[in-house]
Amino acid sequence: MSFVAPLRSRVLKWYDRHARALPWRARRGERADPYRVWLSEVMLQQTTTVHAAPYYEAFLRRWPTVEALAKAEDSEVMSAWAGLGYYARARNLLACARAVARDHAGRFPDTEEGLRALPGLGPYTAAAVAAIAFDRPANVVDGNVERVIARLFAVDEPLPNAKPELKRLAEGLVTAQRPGDWAQALMDLGAVVCRPKSPLCEACPVSGDCRAFAAGSPETWPRRKARVERPRRHGVAFVLRCGDEVALEQRPARGLLGGMLGLPTTPWRSEPWSLAEGGGRAPGAADWREAGAVEHVFTHFALRLTVLEASVAAPAPGLLWTSLETARAGLPTVFRKAVDLAVPAEPQLI
Ligand code: ADE
Repeated sequence: MSFVAPLRSRVLKWYDRHARALPWRARRGERADPYRVWLSEVMLQQTTTVHAAPYYEAFLRRWPTVEALAKAEDSEVMSAWAGLGYYARARNLLACARAVARDHAGRFPDTEEGLRALPGLGPYTAAAVAAIAFDRPANVVDGNVERVIARLFAVDEPLPNAKPELKRLAEGLVTAQRPGDWAQALMDLGAVVCRPKSPLCEACPVSGDCRAFAAGSPETWPRRKARVERPRRHGVAFVLRCGDEVALEQRPARGLLGGMLGLPTTPWRSEPWSLAEGGGRAPGAADWREAGAVEHVFTHFALRLTVLEASVAAPAPGLLWTSLETARAGLPTVFRKAVDLAVPAEPQLI
């Protein structure tokens, strides 16, 4: 008999007992709502379940259906997304919601191919929604699943080159039985047991099938190519205050953090800015003070922003004056760090 059926059965039994209670999961016996599954999957592609959960709840409260989301203003969705990173995803999210509302009467297509044809919906999300919302036998492979598969089969090719091989091996474990549970069982196993650094092999239902476990060093899979250093960029950000408000501006639609609100900054470049040169780009004459610097790592580079801070008596025109509280809640993380450095948040009184 093939090893597949007993291995699947052990994993699914483990899932029945240990599935994480996550806000987007349907309760046992309930049908999953495709909108919720889709929304959660898009959010979870770039962050952890713990970080995504409050965003997910806030989105659902504000836009409980795909039609409601389709009607939202771009800017509202972008600011609700702030803090989740990768704003292109928020733009794709809206494009997809609008296509579902306009072209599909508000109902998500129920096959992987149908989902794949929606704008901004990539192969991973199509497979995940097909499996989890529609119980289609789709092969859902995220980073957690890649790790589980790399260890089970002790795949020695390093990532990212190993991806097609991992996908092929994962495919061999998918069947028409409980495809949604199977996908999520592998994700949970990867997140909770088959952890990146210190796997809990003693709690694993399939350690007996696992070649990496047999080799005695499961944590050394998946193999990885040596990391290349991210290039560094430098900029100066300006925190200009007037009473309880701070000056923001809308960033250009295209490019990093496109269309988001941000602090005024110099361009970001590879050489550091001198205070004189950077300060010369300030959004107005004021008594600028250096507050320090913040670091933020984007996908393709690491940014060091020197933060200059000043207060003015009257709000200068041409800038978007926003309360500090709103700015802290809605700005992309890199700018929130700069605001927090220049104007430390008051400690909460309990
Ligand atoms: N990561 C991505 N999608 C997930 C899901 N549905 N459950 C748990 N972790 C996930």
